[in-house]
Formats: sequence, structure tokens, C-alpha cells
Amino acid sequence: PEKIIIDCDPGHDDAVAILLAHGSPHVELLAVTTVVGNQTLEKVTRNALVVARVAGITGVPFAAGADRPLLREVQTAPDVHGETGMDGPELVEPDLELDPRHAVDLIIDTVMAHEPGTVTLVPTGGLTNIALAVRREPRLVERVNRVVLMGGGVAVGNWSPVAEFNIVIDPEAAAIVFSAGWDVTMVGLDVTHQALATPDVVERVARVGTGPARFVGELFEHFTRAYRDAQGFEHPPVHDPCAVAHVIDPTVVRAVRMPIVVETTGTHTLGMTVADRRAPAPPGCATSAAVELDRERFWDLVVDALERIGEP
Ligand code: BDR
Ligand code: CA
Repeated sequence: PEKIIIDCDPGHDDAVAILLAHGSPHVELLAVTTVVGNQTLEKVTRNALVVARVAGITGVPFAAGADRPLLREVQTAPDVHGETGMDGPELVEPDLELDPRHAVDLIIDTVMAHEPGTVTLVPTGGLTNIALAVRREPRLVERVNRVVLMGGGVAVGNWSPVAEFNIVIDPEAAAIVFSAGWDVTMVGLDVTHQALATPDVVERVARVGTGPARFVGELFEHFTRAYRDAQGFEHPPVHDPCAVAHVIDPTVVRAVRMPIVVETTGTHTLGMTVADRRAPAPPGCATSAAVELDRERFWDLVVDALERIGEP
């Protein structure tokens, strides 16, 4: 299995990403770190621990990271994720203790403790922690296997006409991450907007019949309402597990190499991920973008993970 660290801001879809990683035999979850995003750092960190309890995750360190972006003011997404950041299910009291390290230190320690080229970073929130980590320990560029992130889009935005939330809330951090020189795969809205929790998906998850599956069902319920009201979606896009799915099976979330840079100064385009598809990527191009999702097989992975997690 590929070793991964999830850096996240749970978040309904972040929770599903953690569950997918925990339940999949093809990835090994080494650590979970949190970053301000969908809600305040305090709230998303608590939510991550709630997910750990619901899924029965033990022996994996969880640590809290940045409570604000590098330069910008904090922007959260209560319209989509609610006041708690994970509205819907009952949020049980966490039973896991937070690792005392800062997320940035936990990320660095974990990567440096493993063989070079064996740890993949999977950010599913703003990129503040990842940018700080690579500035604090530049050897990470060589040491990590790759970065597979949910964020951005080749041709679509959600927080603005051209920018996606995870990128636009900390565009300077995103610019650092995209230009660091390590291999970056952007799993953006082009594919995540196809990962819709349609009624057949909701039904498949319900049929699993376990506590974690019911939890996901309750997340979907809130997510469906919120996405309908906030962004006019009939069914909610479940973004973050798409990044984990790409790590599990690149034929489920197919990516193509192309140059990508992050706009940090645009008047109307702040946070846009500018992807160059005019020609085949030049040699040495370190960035790729996900362009196609096999929807059926994506949901197969999620349902299979829930079945394997069972009743913890
Ligand atoms: C991204 O923003 C967050 O609200 C979601 O968790 C996802 O990571 C989608 O734009
Ligand atoms: Ca997220």
C-alpha cells in the first residue's frame, strides 16, 4: 500500500476521504493533520477526532496545524459545512488524544522517518500547513513521493468564477506548493463535480448498514441540502475522497501532466489554477491535473472501504 498523510479541514467530504483511506487496503494512513478552512482550526480538529472515533482509527497520530492562512484573513464555509464544520450527524465525544506536535512538525517528522520517496501527501484543505512544512524543511521536496491534492480546477471555480475554495483561501500557500518542484497532482473541480452523491449512491451507502455508513449517510443528508441552497447543485459533489481515490487507483481518477501555476495577484482571478493545455507538457513538468472520473468505480471504492471498516 502507498503511505499517505492526509492534511484536511473536516468538512463532510474530508470525513469521507479519511474513511476511504482508512478502509482501503491500497493506502496506509500514517497521520492526519488539520488546517483552518471549512471551519476554524479548533472545530475542524475536533471533527477529525470525531471521524477517528466513528471509524475506529487507532494508532494514527492526529495533529492540529495552522489556524490562519499565510497572509490573508480567515475565510470559512459555514454555508456548505454548517456551524460545526460537519453539521448533520451527532458529533460524539472524541476518544483519541491529539498529538502534541504542530501539524507541520508531524508532517516533517513522518516524512523524514520513512524511506525517501515512500510518503505521499494528500491535502484536502487549504495548503497552509504544506507550504509551511516545505519552507521549514526544504528536503521534503526530495523526500516525499508526491503530493496529490484536492483543490483548484482546470476550467472551473466554486468560490469565484475561476477559483476553488482550498486554493483561494490561501493562494500564497498554494503557489508555494504548486511551484516547489515536487510532483503535484491537482484533483480539482473538473472531476470532483462528477463525484455526486446521487440517490443511488446514498442508497448503496445505506445498505452497508454499519455505524460509519450511517454517519456518512447523515453527512450526505446535510451536504445535499447545503449544496442545493448554497450552490444550486441537485446532488452534492463529494470532492475530497477523489484525491484519495487517485492514489488508490489512477484509472478511477485519471490525470494528465500539464503546467499549472496559481494566480496570486489577479483582480478578478485570485486563486485561479492556471493550467496550460495548449501543447503536451514540456519535459520535467512536475504538475498534473485530474481530468476524468470513473464514477461507478469511484463509489465502489468508497462502499468497499465502508464494508471493510465494518462496525468498529
Ligand atoms: C473543497 O472545499 C471544501 O469546502 C471541501 O471540503 C473541499 O475540500 C471543495 O472546494
Ligand atoms: Ca476539504
